[in-house]
Amino acid sequence: MTIRKIAAVGHPVLRQRARAVTAAELASSELQRLIDDLIDTMRDANGAGIAANQVHEAVRVAVVEVDHNPRYPYKPPIPLTVLVNPVVEPLDDEVVEINEGCLSVPNLRGNVLRHVNLRARWLDRDGNEHDEIKRGLTAGTFQHECDHLDGRLFLDRVVDTTTLTTWEEFERHHRDEFVARITEFVRRVGS
Ligand code: NI
Repeated sequence: MTIRKIAAVGHPVLRQRARAVTAAELASSELQRLIDDLIDTMRDANGAGIAANQVHEAVRVAVVEVDHNPRYPYKPPIPLTVLVNPVVEPLDDEVVEINEGCLSVPNLRGNVLRHVNLRARWLDRDGNEHDEIKRGLTAGTFQHECDHLDGRLFLDRVVDTTTLTTWEEFERHHRDEFVARITEFVRRVGS
């Protein structure tokens, strides 16, 4: 088990557009080790996902997993998913305002607009192609990780900067209202 150091906002690697991974590279022990390390690092930090450039490797690889996440207890579960060269495209114009945080943006959360209905295509760690529809908060998590691979942080998508809060102030002043709204949304959308 290897926990890698997570880059924090301000590190240039987070602003780099990550490059695509070739089939040969994906099969290599180095890249398979990177995937294992991403999983370990995400789980250690209680992240819902992590992208390779967050551990200083600018390649288009990310992992997501939600299973009773203490940082985001309202998020429906997502099985461990390894995203290699992911591409996401919105299916329509429906958006939802989600309060997000990020392992690379210590102690800050803020509201961003995310597409609710998404087509996601990616390769898994064995090179198998996936083409699936993702909805709701799960679609939001996929968009957040794909943004990382394009050098974009959730901060760039915060429209109303007065929604920015530390985690402690979120708990004290904003959590109840957000969780009530988003729980209703999850009930409606199913994910
Ligand atoms: Ni992030």
